[in-house]
Amino acid sequence: MSRLVVVSNRVSAPRQGGRTGGEGGLAVGILAALRERGGIWFGWSGKLTEQGGNLDVFDAGRITYAMLDLTARDYEEYYSGFANRSLWPLFHYRLDLADFTRRYLAGYQRVNALFASKLLPALKDDDQIWIHDYHLIPLADQLRQAGCRQKIGFFLHIPWPAPEVLVALPNHRSLVNSLCAYDLVGFQTETDRQAFIDYVLRDAGGTYVDETTVELNGRQVKTGAFPISIDTGNLARVAEEAASTRHTERLRASIRDRDLIVGVDRLDYSKGLVARVEAFEHLLKAYPANRGRAVFLQIAPPSRSDVPEYQQIRAELEAACGRVNAAYADFDWTPIRYLNKGFSRRLLTGFFRVSSIGLVTPLRDGMNLVAKEYVACQNPDEPGVLVLSRFAGAARELDGALIVNPYDNEGVAEALQSALAMSRDERRERWRTMFDYLKRHDIDAWRESYLEALAEA
Ligand code: G6P
Repeated sequence: MSRLVVVSNRVSAPRQGGRTGGEGGLAVGILAALRERGGIWFGWSGKLTEQGGNLDVFDAGRITYAMLDLTARDYEEYYSGFANRSLWPLFHYRLDLADFTRRYLAGYQRVNALFASKLLPALKDDDQIWIHDYHLIPLADQLRQAGCRQKIGFFLHIPWPAPEVLVALPNHRSLVNSLCAYDLVGFQTETDRQAFIDYVLRDAGGTYVDETTVELNGRQVKTGAFPISIDTGNLARVAEEAASTRHTERLRASIRDRDLIVGVDRLDYSKGLVARVEAFEHLLKAYPANRGRAVFLQIAPPSRSDVPEYQQIRAELEAACGRVNAAYADFDWTPIRYLNKGFSRRLLTGFFRVSSIGLVTPLRDGMNLVAKEYVACQNPDEPGVLVLSRFAGAARELDGALIVNPYDNEGVAEALQSALAMSRDERRERWRTMFDYLKRHDIDAWRESYLEALAEA
């Protein structure tokens, strides 16, 4: 079996002492394949240095980690700039927040070229290369220009926007052209895939080769929808153990007989956090029996805090939480517990398990693994209810959830109210279909189906 070379902006490398750093689902899934086949995980070291470009390489078992330092300017233009102020808002339909400064684009291309030049010497002829996410779209094109002939696949973790939105990007055409340097481009959902095909056929003058393959500028690229998933069986076991740990007990004791609604998201404007607080506020307003009873725990670790739009959303969220708590709290009850910090996956599994509702209401999201994790962590006898935005990729699969429109506060409040009142039988039935589905479609199935399609491409 050929070696696997994984490239992503962030790398989950082992910490000192040899334990793997990444506990996230993607890291687990990718590490399993790298361990089995041997290979390289290449990406940014997370470090900024004066010169940049220094490559830190070390082996751990059959895996070689190769991590590149960047300069402060690279970070500003490539990461904070083009990736997170141009592509991220655009792909999440937030044209109002997008900034297309040309310097960002130049930095994005420069860092992709740097990745290509540092990766190339490490490649063997029969390697299979798998590049991840919007930070690295032009990487295959850069590698090809330098003579790379290996099979290269790309997987986009975030949504692919409709053509009418994509064309707001000044360099939309060259971005799509560079995607055609891949052998396989994977999307989270069929809708994303179709939006890409629509652009290639209608806006760029490409043609169909077969049902999944298109041709543009003489290059053929195969496409597919590969909804990413979680390590379902393992998470369910961890959650069962976490049900009786000290932290879970403390949370349970603090909630007592009240109803816990939980949300866990990076503090990002795409997650719909302010609207979520407003929906919860509406629940308290429209269904007063919930006052003194419902507790909304929102865990929102800060993210990309150098980007002004993220500072703005944090201020808005804090104002909204403060306003609702000021209006409704009593001496023995605080409606919203807003936590501006993260918790380990292990602790979160326990929090998910003791909550009555998992509230996942992004305005736009490629997949949203929290929704899937919430399901995996439930107690089969007494499962909670998932309330899920229709704009998350996960809504296509999790049909046992109460699907909501996150822009409609009253509708979300109604869904919360029906979730709180739902019979145990209905909760079990809804949960069972989703859990069985996630057992079959877990992270291993995702990785295998992608790599199989890449091998055939
Ligand atoms: C999303 C992206 C990932 C990214 C993650 C965290 O899930 O798809 O590529 O790593 O957010 O964001 P950050 O900017 O901290 O890497």
